[in-house]
Amino acid sequence: MNTKFKEKYGPWALVTGASSGIGSQFAIQLARKGLNLVLVARRKERLTNLAQDIEQTFPVKVRTLAVDLTQPDFLKRIKDATSDIDIGLLVSNAGIMYIGSYFDHEPEAEMKMIDLNIKAPAVLTRYFGQKMIDRHRGGLIYTASMLGFMGTPYATTYAATKAYEIAKAEGLAVELKSKGIDVLALNPGLTKTEMTADYDFSAMPMKLMQPDQVVRTALKNLGRKPLASPGFMNNMANWMTKRLMSRKMNTKLFGYFIKKAF
Ligand SMILES: NC(=O)c1ccc[n+]([C@@H]2O[C@H](COP(=O)([O-])OP(=O)(O)OC[C@H]3O[C@@H](n4cnc5c(N)ncnc54)[C@H](OP(=O)(O)O)[C@@H]3O)[C@@H](O)[C@H]2O)c1
Repeated sequence: MNTKFKEKYGPWALVTGASSGIGSQFAIQLARKGLNLVLVARRKERLTNLAQDIEQTFPVKVRTLAVDLTQPDFLKRIKDATSDIDIGLLVSNAGIMYIGSYFDHEPEAEMKMIDLNIKAPAVLTRYFGQKMIDRHRGGLIYTASMLGFMGTPYATTYAATKAYEIAKAEGLAVELKSKGIDVLALNPGLTKTEMTADYDFSAMPMKLMQPDQVVRTALKNLGRKPLASPGFMNNMANWMTKRLMSRKMNTKLFGYFIKKAF
């Protein structure tokens, strides 16, 4: 257990998208650090099973809330479920990605991605961020993506939603520093989760990382810097694409790899 981490970001953390992949790992690693948890996603059984496993393994309390973050009532449901507890860390991690030609997707699919990847984090930031300002401590983590560093053909809207998260974290990190709140955008590259399971990314030079490695990077860097990218190869790619290539070339290159995946 990490007392300093618990004092700064405890006693409770709320993790969205906790029913699988990176979100489940956030839940486990935060419980290891001694934080009580509110786990949010749509699949109730997944959340209940994870909550039981965590409570049997770590001395923490876990609440679950099955809620669709694209529905208009989601904030009310979250408020009701957390009104009696003190959330010191928001992990805004739930997200969806559609890959393919922009006009091949129904407009509803794009709007849903914007609702989940942009609107829900914004609504949650306002609600929990204000409470953190009032108590003068806390943390905000956003799971963005390496694709948010540039326009990405065939993942156009997804990359744009992640660019929003990156820019927001950078701005908020400065605004909220004097208020005792740490802000981080985590920018994973390819990670082995349900999100990547249906695509073939074998043409990409970077190999898929495991969610536990990705989350370790986030928790290590929270409070140290506003952006963190997990994995040596991803950091190398970030460095090379920034220093050795134009933004236009970078966009074309990523589009080439993404097109090969679907
Ligand atoms: N995997 C990668 O390569 C990769 C790379 C960069 C960034 N990311 C980002 O990492 C984050 C986590 O993704 P992942 O890779 O762990 O994928 P994942 O296993 O598919 O997890 C996505 C999570 O979001 C939840 N979710 C989806 N729609 C929701 C909704 N309408 N309301 C509430 N929760 C919803 C899912 O739970 P339910 O289905 O139970 O609702 C699930 O827990 C995402 O923001 C993603 O963009 C992933």
